[in-house]
Amino acid sequence: MAETEKREREEGQGSADDVRILAFLCNWCSYAGADLAGVSRLQYPPNVLDVRVMCTGTISPYFVVKAFQEGMDGVLIAGCHIGDCHYLKGNYMTAKRFQVLREALRFLGLEEGRLRLEWVSAAEGEKYAEVVRSFTEQVKALGPSPLRRKPVGWGGKTGEEG
Ligand code: FES
Repeated sequence: MAETEKREREEGQGSADDVRILAFLCNWCSYAGADLAGVSRLQYPPNVLDVRVMCTGTISPYFVVKAFQEGMDGVLIAGCHIGDCHYLKGNYMTAKRFQVLREALRFLGLEEGRLRLEWVSAAEGEKYAEVVRSFTEQVKALGPSPLRRKPVGWGGKTGEEG
């Protein structure tokens, strides 16, 4: 481990390559798209932790803010294309909330680029993989979140454990 990276970890900042992204994926489209990317053996970075939700409309802005407070460097929200939501208006609500969320992030001192909204259908495994690739690169360019206080691994373990 490079000295700078080691120092950053000890200070709780992590390194640019060590970014963590939380992805809220709607059950009916994007989760299936992610599954298709997996079974198709498409390559994409492993920095993403998926959270399966029934519809993007169920994602409270609180969950997004909480994700950043818990040490995530980026949050991806992916759902059905407009007009394809299984609950009819869920993704319309998400699109509206997204604008508010971006404002909230700015208020918290976070860059807008740490939050992304994408529409990915169950048939778009390649698109899902590309979204994860490009978003990971974008978040890496921004570096670890300024809200990240200490390294936290998946499952609540410290960065050193997991
Ligand atoms: S069911 Fe997919 S966004 Fe609503």
